[in-house]
Amino acid sequence: MAQKTWRIGVAGLGTVGAGLLTFLAERPDFAPAGGRATVTGVSARSRSRPRPFDISNLPWFDDPVALANSPETDVFVELIGGSDGPAKAAVEAALRAGKPVVTANKALIAEHGADLAALAEAKGAPLLFEAAVMGGTPAVKMLREAMVGDDVKSVAGILNGTCNYILTEMEATGRSFAEVLGEAQRLGYAEADPTMDVGGFDAAHKISILAALAFGCAPNYAAAEIEGIEGVDLLDIQLARDLGYRIKLVASADRSPDGVLVRVHPSLAPLAHPLAQAGGALNALFIEGTRIGRIFIQGPGAGSGPTAAAVAADIADVMTGAVRPVFQKPATDLKPFTPVDPSKSLGRAYLRLSVKDEPGVIAAVTETLGDAGVSIESFLQKPVEKADGVPIVLTTHAVAESVLKAAIERIAALPAVLDRPRLLRIARI
Ligand SMILES: NC(=O)c1ccc[n+]([C@@H]2O[C@H](COP(=O)([O-])OP(=O)(O)OC[C@H]3O[C@@H](n4cnc5c(N)ncnc54)[C@H](OP(=O)(O)O)[C@@H]3O)[C@@H](O)[C@H]2O)c1
Repeated sequence: MAQKTWRIGVAGLGTVGAGLLTFLAERPDFAPAGGRATVTGVSARSRSRPRPFDISNLPWFDDPVALANSPETDVFVELIGGSDGPAKAAVEAALRAGKPVVTANKALIAEHGADLAALAEAKGAPLLFEAAVMGGTPAVKMLREAMVGDDVKSVAGILNGTCNYILTEMEATGRSFAEVLGEAQRLGYAEADPTMDVGGFDAAHKISILAALAFGCAPNYAAAEIEGIEGVDLLDIQLARDLGYRIKLVASADRSPDGVLVRVHPSLAPLAHPLAQAGGALNALFIEGTRIGRIFIQGPGAGSGPTAAAVAADIADVMTGAVRPVFQKPATDLKPFTPVDPSKSLGRAYLRLSVKDEPGVIAAVTETLGDAGVSIESFLQKPVEKADGVPIVLTTHAVAESVLKAAIERIAALPAVLDRPRLLRIARI
């Protein structure tokens, strides 16, 4: 029997697009029993830009929407990026025409996933995004498909390789956030505008998608509580280490009877914990299911080859007809989850204070915390030379965030406390 040829339109020829075109040229029959994949059209911003592969023989589209609508496109692959603009317009055009869409675009899926899922399912067109979370490491299919027989309670992990690289380098080399970020930008590991990564927004997009898949609801990016790593001081990395922890940007989603709490914070993980051990640009994820228990995956979260492999896996699903609802449940049953008020959440914390080097200060701090209902777990004072006071660090037992924040205000008002106390969460992992 003649093999079906699937005509693939690829919009976006950057890091991921380059990886995909290279792969499809080498392995057009990669999909088991799925026929052949051939690229029949490409779109990017600049036609003349030098690329690591030859596009001179491929039909060129200035407008990705035109590529999506082209009669020569059976499957539309969106690798442009951005939650709105041309990426969204082209994905919507393809879905409206009933064409399968594969994308690596976490911003688009996190912010418009519910509407796109409704459109895709109304048109009977698959919408797949394995590469959008953890790049080449298969987290999306695992939650959407392999975990449907379980009730997931929580997902937590390291979902941004750039932040993980920066934090790892800061600890390994003793350099500041600004110095390591500058080097990462020169080496091409961080974007010229690093806000999406270091501000925690990229990780928030990804955890919003994972929360939707894990808990059978629509993505609710607007409900995510987001803090990036810009404020992580080298001193905190060193002091956390002295206490037996490593600072990681942890993205988590927890389900409780009250709703779902989605947050991204620089958090302390015990040094021996697998999340603390995931260094460099690696991504890592814990999933906790009611029946399955705990699962841990770790792998590359970005890069041309790994991410293109995840895109190719989605194309293979289209070619083999293995299609399911976009988010675990049919789009008509998807509701945004009820966000849990973060101030009510319980957790342990790390507090660093900069205090005057004089008697009675520690007693005043511990008394104030005790009065405010915060119980101290450990205490560390290091003879660190700092012009702006002596750093003291303490960790707390589990405490409601609202109680902790009120206590911080009281400590900040003490005459011997010289700076705003630095709060970091101890990861609940
Ligand atoms: N890089 C990774 O490792 C990775 C990992 C996971 C997910 N992702 C996601 O994959 C997507 C692509 O990422 P990337 O790193 O490959 O991005 P990239 O290297 O910046 O490439 C973006 C591509 O989109 C093209 N483009 C920009 N505006 C366009 C427009 N208006 N019309 C048509 N094409 C346009 C660019 O054209 P020119 O080449 O002509 O400038 C470029 O080819 C993003 O959603 C990203 O979040 C990336």
